[in-house]
Amino acid sequence: MVLYQIYPRSFADSDDDGVGDLQGIIDRIDHLDTLGVDGVWLSPIMRSPGVDHGYDVSDPRDVDPLFGDVSTLRRLLDTLHSRRMVLIMDLVPNHTSSQHPWLEAALASGPGSTERARYFFRDGRGPDGSLPPNNWPSVFGGPAWTRVTEADGTPGQWYLHLFAPEQPDLDSSNPEVVEDLDRTLRFWLDLGVDGFRIDVAHGLAKPEDLADLPADVEIAQLVVDVRDARWDRPGVHEVHRRIRRVLDAYPGTATFGEVWIGPVDRFARYLRPDELHFAFHFALTGAPFEADAIRSAIDSTLDAARASGSAPTWALSNHDVVREVTRYGNGAVGTARARAMLLAILALPGIAFIYNGAELGLPSDFSIPHDRLTDPTWDRTDHAELGRDHCRVPLPWSGDRPPYGFSGADDTWLPMPDTWSDLTVEAQSADPESTLSLYRRAIRIRHSWPTPTTPEVRWTSTPDGCLGFLREDGPVLCMINTSRRSVPLPDGTVVLSSAPLDGGLLPPDTAVWLQR
Ligand code: GLC
Repeated sequence: MVLYQIYPRSFADSDDDGVGDLQGIIDRIDHLDTLGVDGVWLSPIMRSPGVDHGYDVSDPRDVDPLFGDVSTLRRLLDTLHSRRMVLIMDLVPNHTSSQHPWLEAALASGPGSTERARYFFRDGRGPDGSLPPNNWPSVFGGPAWTRVTEADGTPGQWYLHLFAPEQPDLDSSNPEVVEDLDRTLRFWLDLGVDGFRIDVAHGLAKPEDLADLPADVEIAQLVVDVRDARWDRPGVHEVHRRIRRVLDAYPGTATFGEVWIGPVDRFARYLRPDELHFAFHFALTGAPFEADAIRSAIDSTLDAARASGSAPTWALSNHDVVREVTRYGNGAVGTARARAMLLAILALPGIAFIYNGAELGLPSDFSIPHDRLTDPTWDRTDHAELGRDHCRVPLPWSGDRPPYGFSGADDTWLPMPDTWSDLTVEAQSADPESTLSLYRRAIRIRHSWPTPTTPEVRWTSTPDGCLGFLREDGPVLCMINTSRRSVPLPDGTVVLSSAPLDGGLLPPDTAVWLQR
């Protein structure tokens, strides 16, 4: 299965406000069809003030007017289903928006109220409570606690937010919180969605004592430090069991958890038969283009699949990380390596995720003017970290200058570089050697293979700096050259290569599929 992640603000804008929307996706459905993907994971489109672009939800059972309404979503679903594609919604159960009626009620109700018990409200430390309840930092920078002003105007309690202050954490041990989650799941399932990507699936329960973290814990949003007691608490599994019970009543639906947990045994626990169906394994998003690193990333993902009995998942990027073209070195080299890695993930057994724009070989854009940055990380770190806007720039569709057919507006929510005219869907569709053409061809070929029955791959012996492997059912041998010189190709008929071959040689930064 190949799933395509749409960051809705950035895919296509139908109403010319400079921000992508659901009708934009419907209008561009042919792009998904031609690409040949099996479905879409849609980053959040629920009602949201947009501080973290939808990952701060103020009404989990409505569509944000920025993107359309529930009937537009229904039309998108019908359109996808009529083309045999599924729709996976993004669900954000860890926190709400600070504009959710629950937080507003909590602020109005005061300490000790049932309204505050849905979140983590605590008294501050120090004689006047002016210090946060513990030393937890937010993963977006600054403390993970914000002090509120009580109804009588005095400085009051503090509430917890692992992310931005506008994203207060919910207490999943509160029955009302999980009952509401059930309602949200059913709302979208009744509408016909095929499943959910579960945001921060490893963070949905907090340690009861909310104790200080050791001073040397590394604070990361991605691949969290196992000593950071805020993640991977035993209580998260109760939430996943509950979610599973709801989904089991809707046959054919599935969950995909965002689980940034390294150790295989702990990762695998999320995939027990009564928990998540699938979990993202992010090893490849952190691996350099280097044979040993790629091999160990692949092995760790396969180990997790073996340990859990769930299908392996592969992603080279998403809306939180640097795009692969840039990670691998930018320019022609970065693009060549990203193309090679596409052949690697598509030749592996399991589910491959493509982040919108990867099929165009888009780089991350680190030239966005600072006054246009929107990711909360930028301000929360006092401008020490640029945040993630670089990988969220709108997609270029056609023409030779911004906004490249993305929108009818002159300006887009993030500015688009004026160097992307060769990267548009239009330009690349006309070029059989383009990255887009490679994606289309590779996905089509992959669809002609039988679905693998095991997560096993067999590594073959290769020259130094290269990797070679076959799925157990072996439709092709995939060989990748990460070295600096061309190497001889193994025996076999070339099915596809990520760049032109050099006679019987596989050039650097290139991958090939060979039929044996
Ligand atoms: C997840 C999302 C990220 C978001 C965060 C808070 O990591 O992928 O984009 O900022 O959760 O919801």
